[in-house]
Amino acid sequence: MKRPSIDVLEREDPVRHGVNAFVRRAAEGVAAGARVLDAGAGECIYRPLFEKQRYVAVDRGGGDREWNYGRLDAVADLERVPLCDGTFDYVLCTETLEHVRRPARVLAELRRVLRPGGTLALSVPFLHPVHQAPHDYLRFTPFALRALLEEAGLSVTGIEASGGYFLFLYWQLQAFPSHLPLGVRACPLTWLSWPARAFIRGAAALLRGFAWALRGKSAAETRPLSYFTLAVRK
Ligand SMILES: C[S@@+](CC[C@H](N)C(=O)[O-])C[C@H]1O[C@@H](n2cnc3c(N)ncnc32)[C@H](O)[C@@H]1O
Repeated sequence: MKRPSIDVLEREDPVRHGVNAFVRRAAEGVAAGARVLDAGAGECIYRPLFEKQRYVAVDRGGGDREWNYGRLDAVADLERVPLCDGTFDYVLCTETLEHVRRPARVLAELRRVLRPGGTLALSVPFLHPVHQAPHDYLRFTPFALRALLEEAGLSVTGIEASGGYFLFLYWQLQAFPSHLPLGVRACPLTWLSWPARAFIRGAAALLRGFAWALRGKSAAETRPLSYFTLAVRK
């Protein structure tokens, strides 16, 4: 089976681009030999970033049907992680909290397996289509994230919004043709003939360039694609 690569995912998807940058930054700050839990690891795409650490991947294996869950170290529900208290120096949890029914329970478990002073790096989508249905339950504002983390016994050290208006617009526009009814898409005589398609592709490419040029300068807070959070076990 084809190995998923974070570079391929990144080219296709601006949300993944942001998440990958967050995880790369996080990984750079983790000491060699540190014990790292990837909670809800999916296909373990971030394993290569933690080659110098002791990386453990846990997931219940119930996301996309076509995903390969064969690289996990343990198949388990994050509400009951089968590992001892304080096992990990670092817990990574990307794009997973929205898929759990009881996020407070999961965060309490992630805190339990972290050693005191250990860090949780958490990413959640915000303006994002429904995915991995029917197990897509929640979206979180930064205020909800902070409250949930504090209630779980974690101190929030930073919550960062990623994306913003232009990237959001680009992402929506590039998906435009695929949202038209099949009959309209298939008919070569409709208004969506090749000049219209070329126009949409061109406009999407322009918006993408615009969004990239304005990265860091245009506020992401009002139209975030994702939130990236760091929290420390008290
Ligand atoms: C969108 S995927 C994210 C995978 C990976 N973290 C990434 O960023 O590519 C969400 C994952 O969470 C897992 N998941 C959802 N609820 C879970 C639970 N209660 N316990 C363990 N894993 C869970 C799913 O099986 C799925 O692999």
